[in-house]
Amino acid sequence: AVIHRADYQAPAYWIDTVELCFDLDPAKTRVLNRMRIRRNPDVPPQPLKLDGDELNLARVLVNGQGTSFKMEGGRLVLENLPEGSEPFELEIFTTCCPAKNSKLMGLYVSNDSFFTQCEAEGFRRITYFLDRPDVMASYTVLLRADKRKYPVLLSNGNLVDHGDLEDGRHFAKWVDPFRKPCYLFALVAGQLVAREQKIVARNGKEHLLQVFVRPGDLDKTEHAMNSLMASVAWDEARFGLPLDLERFMIVATSDFNMGAMENKGLNIFNTKYVLANQATATDTDFGNIESVVGHEYFHNWTGNRVTCRDWFQLSLKEGLTVFRDQEFSQDLAGEASARAVKRIEDVRVLRTAQFPEDAGPMAHPVRPDQYLEINNFYTVTVYEKGAEVVRMMQTLVGREGFERGMTLYFQRHDGHAVTCDDFAQAIADANTQSPLYEKLGQFKRWYSQAGTPRVRAVPQWEAGTGTWRLQLSQSNPPTPGQADKQPQVIPIAWGLIGQDGRELASGMHVLTEAHDTLVVENLASEPVPSLLRGFSAPVILDFDYSDGQLLALLEHDTDPFNRWEAAQRLAVRSALAAIHHGGEVTLDAHFVEAMRHILRHPTLDSAFKELVLTLPAETYIAEQLDVVDPQHVHAVRESMRQQLATALQPDWEAAYEANKDSGAYSPDPVSSGRRALAGLALTHLCIAARLSSDTVWPGKAYQRFKDASNMTDRFNALSALVVGGSDLARPALQKFHAMFKDEALVLDKWFALQAGAPDRGGNVLPAVKQLMQHPDFNVRNPNRARSLIFSYCSANPGAFHRADAAGYVFWSDRVMELDAINPQVAARLARALDRWRKLAEPMRGAAREAIARVAAKPDLSNDVREVVTRALAE
Ligand code: ARG
Ligand code: ZN
Repeated sequence: AVIHRADYQAPAYWIDTVELCFDLDPAKTRVLNRMRIRRNPDVPPQPLKLDGDELNLARVLVNGQGTSFKMEGGRLVLENLPEGSEPFELEIFTTCCPAKNSKLMGLYVSNDSFFTQCEAEGFRRITYFLDRPDVMASYTVLLRADKRKYPVLLSNGNLVDHGDLEDGRHFAKWVDPFRKPCYLFALVAGQLVAREQKIVARNGKEHLLQVFVRPGDLDKTEHAMNSLMASVAWDEARFGLPLDLERFMIVATSDFNMGAMENKGLNIFNTKYVLANQATATDTDFGNIESVVGHEYFHNWTGNRVTCRDWFQLSLKEGLTVFRDQEFSQDLAGEASARAVKRIEDVRVLRTAQFPEDAGPMAHPVRPDQYLEINNFYTVTVYEKGAEVVRMMQTLVGREGFERGMTLYFQRHDGHAVTCDDFAQAIADANTQSPLYEKLGQFKRWYSQAGTPRVRAVPQWEAGTGTWRLQLSQSNPPTPGQADKQPQVIPIAWGLIGQDGRELASGMHVLTEAHDTLVVENLASEPVPSLLRGFSAPVILDFDYSDGQLLALLEHDTDPFNRWEAAQRLAVRSALAAIHHGGEVTLDAHFVEAMRHILRHPTLDSAFKELVLTLPAETYIAEQLDVVDPQHVHAVRESMRQQLATALQPDWEAAYEANKDSGAYSPDPVSSGRRALAGLALTHLCIAARLSSDTVWPGKAYQRFKDASNMTDRFNALSALVVGGSDLARPALQKFHAMFKDEALVLDKWFALQAGAPDRGGNVLPAVKQLMQHPDFNVRNPNRARSLIFSYCSANPGAFHRADAAGYVFWSDRVMELDAINPQVAARLARALDRWRKLAEPMRGAAREAIARVAAKPDLSNDVREVVTRALAE
């Protein structure tokens, strides 16, 4: 049944303490759950209804006595509970089967170890409970298991006791000193080893940091540990938020639905976001580990100490924590230019993933109003757009004002389950002189209105008086369930560039009305505006720049974001012109020269050059069109890339030579930027080589692939061969597999590269189908399923959207296959066809048929059903 935000009601009971006792066994784990419960005096008396899912119930006792109960759906309903406000004890004994838990929610087994994932509603798969985030309890956990098979027994908080039992079993007892909602509960048991680090906090207190992995992976934990130490230091320095536990643990598992989970004191991570060394992980992996480790650590305050009242408030913790991890990575990057690179990367994710979501059938506000399955709302809207909303608050109150607001937020709400309104109110109340305070009600439309606002900006130049006017107007198109939108508060950072390239003026304009005018006076000549600097609001800005103006911005803007943006606009413009005129693209000579200039630039960072020289993604180009033929978009972008490859060949060569040696490996922004640019250069050189039947550069790429001293260079060389369509790609792929056959995360890259390869005569789908039969493929492992199936269906539009519909048939088969195993993963895959309505025929009709085929399956999970129903809704 669909759940509505407006229907929120406080719980009828509070659970104050929980004592859990686990006898861990893969086939039958016994769970004894003893709770102290009392009625919520603010709510009329009613039966206690405890959530449960796939549990075997053995016994229920109230104050030590048997009691009557009934089942309602999955719920356990108790009607004859003691009256009055006195607490009572409820004891529930259940069993479950972790070995058969392929959904990876609740308690499950991975590589012979036990793990849990309780967010959002997995705790009910462990025991009967009020599985909602506003019920916060104190936990004591006793774990018992075979000592040889499960030498390490972990749960939240502090280890207070441990020892041996009979029959080769042992136990560990954990007490969490903080009250928490059950979605933050965790346990881990298995053969694990830890990298340990003691740190001393500012107040002199000692803490133990641990990163647990499987034996053999210890040599891949240094970066995660460094990232964790940096996170602890950063949260204390930037927000005054200290580590509040004696020990903080991270555990890695190779079977995980998402990235990682912030369980109190015991974060559980997908191995992808923990394990890294230079031989197996790329610079991107290192960067992701830094931000995910930071993200989960920062949740300790923004998520755990202050949590969500209900799941509609998810962005309260996720948007804020993404904002915090973005700021963390920027601060670690240091230099202004490296910060800008991180900002550009974040905006690129927002625009290629969130903007399409906000324009499609799954569009929802940052604070959704309804859901069928909450797991479907762990989205780029809640996370990334949510982070932009927090960023705008910081922009409106200033950095210090924002820090004041955070302090007030914790003063008011520490230890409580609250709402997005509470957060915005705290930031505003700490800044009563700010536009945020003044316009708070209107600002909060960012939480309630879905869709990407469009800002249209039209300049007017009055030469006689030297007055420049910018007419601004905003609109927001209808989204499902929201026909009419009200104007939003849109901070627009702006600057004006003079004829000589110098900056004439700059400022911040807060657009609040549907129409408004920005006026700048006393200008000597007509300026070129640099608008929405740093991407100061998550909107689409329409401004009819001339090519010359964009080239001027690319050359002179002091805002690195808008320099990059100018190049993107020029590239999108060429792509759209080619697509609309159905013909070949011929890149504008000025554009090519500008790209050459950037590539040759003596002082710009390599990382920045790599971003500027990377053409906008196919999905981003597709979003600018009303009707999309993905194969055509792909062909046009390929043709643009080929022209850049050929026209700039000597410059690519120079860039490659200048950047190919990045010294002893370190994943810092400067050396990773050099590797990124060398990789991009090599790709273009291999593309150019294919066009001229030259074998020199593919040969060099193969050599580099073999000799590389780190995974970034090795993988970039391999990818250059694959993308360049070289004959050497085959042997290189074979060699790569042989080298890394025991490295699961590297094999994921191997599968993903092949599934994401450029389509040549429809060859990718057959290759993907063949890889499904590969002994290393395993559809039950989410990372592996994503690396092959998602890389094809979601990340390779040119190969997936086939006119013969074979890609869609494959997709529907996989969605249905996965749904029976792991509905969360299946529902993510289901979203690959979100934008089917924009497709050109015959793809459109075929896509609809494939979705309808999935929708017609009788026993679909709520997860997939919600996605396909929305996709088909008129
Ligand atoms: N709170 C986690 C994070 O963002 C995400 C966990 C979501 N898991 C899920 N099954 N929905 O760090
Ligand atoms: Zn999170």
